[in-house]
Amino acid sequence: MRKVIIAGNWKLNKTSAEAITLVEELKREVVDVSGVDIVVCPPFTAINDVNECLIGSNIDLGAQNVFWQDSGAFTGEVSAPMLKHLGVKYVIIGHSERRQFFGETNETVSKRIRAALTHGLTPIVCVGENLAERESNKTFDVIKNHCEGSLVNLTAEEMSKIVIAYEPVWAIGTGKTATPEQAQEVHAYIRQLLARIFNTEVSQSVRIQYGGSVTPENIAILIAKPDIDGALVGGASLKAPSFAAIVKAAQK
Ligand code: PGA
Repeated sequence: MRKVIIAGNWKLNKTSAEAITLVEELKREVVDVSGVDIVVCPPFTAINDVNECLIGSNIDLGAQNVFWQDSGAFTGEVSAPMLKHLGVKYVIIGHSERRQFFGETNETVSKRIRAALTHGLTPIVCVGENLAERESNKTFDVIKNHCEGSLVNLTAEEMSKIVIAYEPVWAIGTGKTATPEQAQEVHAYIRQLLARIFNTEVSQSVRIQYGGSVTPENIAILIAKPDIDGALVGGASLKAPSFAAIVKAAQK
């Protein structure tokens, strides 16, 4: 049985003071939840304060990116050992906004995955097609390219530690969710790819989240699909009641 994982990607939102308020409220809302991995990914500047608030809670800490070198002359970057030291457990890698605005490629995604694994962080690796690609029936090609290109050089054991997030770019922040059938089709395809690249055991154990306009209203029908193991939530993770409602509805 794959454990459901719901992660909140706060993106470029929340000062540390605002982050503390959000997390204090969230802790109260989800205190009785079990059987779901709950993760919040604040901006770097709030990570330390959020970590302190989360001690003893059932919520884990994630970051939104990581650089592949441990230290050195890389102005503006943050490394895996630095994150690990702050109590970070998960790290989002290769989000479509990073691909779109910051030149992220399969190659850089793969380097970041390596750095995260080396330092004991769990990568949440994002894949997904944009609208033009979906409309020209290239969805599977793009998913194959993202998976093969970014998961290269991993052993089956390393792959089993990774979480994948399928995020159709056209569904992110648009209010236009993929239908459960559209999402399930791609999730099943990702599992097939993992079986081919690694093995069946890995493909059955890796958790695949769906992301893109997930709300308290649509999470139940998404999570009901056999290959959807959770969600990566943007907008709806910025308020404790909506994120908590998603977490609760996702308890399978
Ligand atoms: P959204 O963002 O939930 O606001 O669509 C999801 C994401 O980008 O991870």
